Amino acid sequence: MKIGFGNGNILKNLLPVFWHIYTETNQRLHPGKRLSERVWSSSEAYDWVEIVLPKRLGSVRESMTGITVGKNDKVFVLTGAGISAESGLPTFRASDGLWAGHAIEDVCTPEAWERNPGLVWEFYSERRRQGAKAQPNPAHIALAELEKEIGERFFLCTQNVDDLHERAGSVRLAHMHGELAKARCERECGQLPVEDHAIYASLSDVGRCSCGGRMRPHIVFFGEIPLEMERIQREIQKATLMVVVGTSGSVYPAANFVHWARQGGARTVYVGPEPPLNANAFTHVVEGKAGEVLPGLFVVGG
Ligand code: APR
Repeated sequence: MKIGFGNGNILKNLLPVFWHIYTETNQRLHPGKRLSERVWSSSEAYDWVEIVLPKRLGSVRESMTGITVGKNDKVFVLTGAGISAESGLPTFRASDGLWAGHAIEDVCTPEAWERNPGLVWEFYSERRRQGAKAQPNPAHIALAELEKEIGERFFLCTQNVDDLHERAGSVRLAHMHGELAKARCERECGQLPVEDHAIYASLSDVGRCSCGGRMRPHIVFFGEIPLEMERIQREIQKATLMVVVGTSGSVYPAANFVHWARQGGARTVYVGPEPPLNANAFTHVVEGKAGEVLPGLFVVGG
C-alpha cells in the first residue's frame, strides 16, 4: 500500500499511516505477528518497515534486523543523555530533574549564574568528577566504528556535555550544548573556550579571562542558543539517514531535527528503551538500550 507524506502537511498525512497500522494490528492480526509495509514519501520509497505487532494493544512498535547504510547514504546521528546511561552517567529524567535538592534548571540558567556562580561551578565540578570516572560504552564505540567505515558521510551531533564520544574515537562531531571539560569568559569577549578539567572547591579558585571577566562553564544554559547550529543544519540538510539515540525529545531545537530530516526525505530511526515524546515523527522506533542495540545495527553496504 502506498501512503503519501506531503511536505508541510506531515501531521495530517501521518495520521492515516498510524491509523492504518493501528487498525491492522488490532483488528486483523494478532500480537506477535509481523506485517511488512512500504512507507512512501511524496517522491521516493523508504526501506521496508517491519512492524512487530504490539503485545499491548493500542501501541505500535517496530523492530529492525539492521539499518542499511548504502554507498550514497549520508548519516546524521543525534545523541542524548541516554547513550551515556550505560556508562554510569544519570540522565536528566532518571535524576527526576533534581540535583542536591535543586531543580536542574535552577543551576543551568543565566539567572542561576548571575545569582550564585559558586553553586553553578559546584554542580559542573560534580559532573566533571562523574564524567572522569565514566568510560565509553558499546554504543559510543559502535558510532565511532561506523564513522571509521563511512568517513565524511557521517556526522554526529550530541546534546551531551561529556567527552565519551571523543574518547570512543568519534571525530566529526558537534557538542550543541557545550562541553564539560571547557570554560569560557562570561563576557563573550571573543576569547575562545579553554580546556578546563578542574574540580573547584570554591569560586575563588576559578580563574578570570585576560579581559577580567569571570570564567564560566562552556555549557549552553537553559534559554541560551545552542552552539554550531549553522553547521548542524547544513549536515541535516545533507542527511539521507538520521539516527537519534537516547533523548527524550523534549528539548528544542534538538527535538525538531527529526522533522527537518523528514522534510529532506531522510529515513529516521530512534533507538532507546522507550519511545521519545516526538516518536511519531520517526519512520522506525527501535526499543532497547543503546549499548545493546547499536553494536551490529548498521549494515554498511556497497
Ligand atoms: N539507551 C538509550 N536511551 C536511554 C537509555 C539507554 N541505556 N537509558 C535511558 N535512555 C533514554 C530515556 O528513555 C530518555 O528518553 O534517554 C533519554 C534521556 O532523556 P533526558 O534525561 O531528558 O535527556 P536528553 O533528552 O538528552 O536531555 C536533553 O536536556 O537536561 C538537558 O541540556 C540537557 O542535553 C540535555 C537536554
